[in-house]
Amino acid sequence: MSFLDPTLLALGIALAAIKFYIIVELFLPACLLIGISIIFRKIKKSTARHITITGQCVFITGCDTGIGHNFALRLCQRGFTVFAGCLYPEGDGAEQLRSKVGDNIHIVPLDVTKQDSVDKARDYVVKHCQEKGLWAIVNNAGIEFLSDIEMSPMECFKSNAEVNLYGTVRVTKAFLPTIRKYKGRIINVTSVKGRIAIPGNATYVMTKYGGEAFSDCLRREVKRFGVKVIIIEPGNFAITALFSGKNLERFQSNLNHAWEVALDESRTTYGKKYLDHVLHSVDDDTRVKYAYPNLNPVMDAMEDSVTNESPQYRYLIDGCSGFLDKYCMLARLNPYLPERFMDYLIEKYFPPTPIAAETQVTNNQEKSK
Ligand SMILES: *[C@@H]1O[C@H](CO)[C@@H](O)[C@H](O)[C@H]1NC(C)=O
Ligand SMILES: *[C@@H]1O[C@H](CO)[C@@H](O)[C@H](O)[C@H]1NC(C)=O
Repeated sequence: MSFLDPTLLALGIALAAIKFYIIVELFLPACLLIGISIIFRKIKKSTARHITITGQCVFITGCDTGIGHNFALRLCQRGFTVFAGCLYPEGDGAEQLRSKVGDNIHIVPLDVTKQDSVDKARDYVVKHCQEKGLWAIVNNAGIEFLSDIEMSPMECFKSNAEVNLYGTVRVTKAFLPTIRKYKGRIINVTSVKGRIAIPGNATYVMTKYGGEAFSDCLRREVKRFGVKVIIIEPGNFAITALFSGKNLERFQSNLNHAWEVALDESRTTYGKKYLDHVLHSVDDDTRVKYAYPNLNPVMDAMEDSVTNESPQYRYLIDGCSGFLDKYCMLARLNPYLPERFMDYLIEKYFPPTPIAAETQVTNNQEKSK
């Protein structure tokens, strides 16, 4: 065999051409694009102009715990006047807010599922914000129920929508005339789960997709009034209060209720152990292990959404203690990847909760071996 075997040579040239193509045509332009976008962002950040804070009023829903609570504290420190909507105005959360920040905070009793409660809160805020103006409302109140659709009672679909979706609609509608008057902004805390549909999370995911759609419509409608609508999408953060304290209790009792009202056939298919798996999946250790340990990135993004003169439309905020927030990564890929491939990735990263029917199948398989 001669050294210059023509087929080998052709193969070598072809490979070199492919390599050249990949590097020059795909890799370099990709690097260039990424580089440019990083530089662009840096420039945008360093030239961003922020409003002067002179005690403007901000109304935040869901301040008893979690993101709302922390954000109320943050804005008070920065010199805003905060109206903190609390479901439990005499509870620990509200008490802490009162004692920590004092004068520039008003605790406003608020149940976003009740029209008269929302109206009362609005009247209170309007009355007290005349001097400084209402600069922003932050729709943050939210609850979460988890279970496969077959095991989620109708009530849970409704109650999730009632708080997460209709709650924000109700609050937004009530406050829109005031916000318009001051050319303020409406900030919505949705979730990365408003961008990817994770199995076993339908009751919650549906409300968040709804919230995204609503915000997009609203943004395009109210632009003519000079009102801005901004969406906040936190990724994997440990200290969202969705599964602690009262919320965890409610979740547990909902889960038991789900078992009671499920069809007999569903119960045999899923098995009682399924409930333990679901409970365990929200259990502190497992969640906290991979989640970002504090809320600072969310607070920074939200502060920017309130104070930046030209805020982003959407803030997708990576959490996670590791290298990559898989939720946010998948949310970014979602619009571009074919569905089949997305399904593969979601199954890999968020496998469905094990059910009795599957364990029986594998047991039988093992027996027959
Ligand atoms: C809901 O999503 C989480 C990921 O955020 C996952 O770990 C959990 O298993 C899902 N719940 C159910 C019941 O499948
Ligand atoms: C966000 O957008 C609009 C206006 O703020 C609101 O009506 C909608 O329900 C909100 N959605 C969520 C889930 O926050």
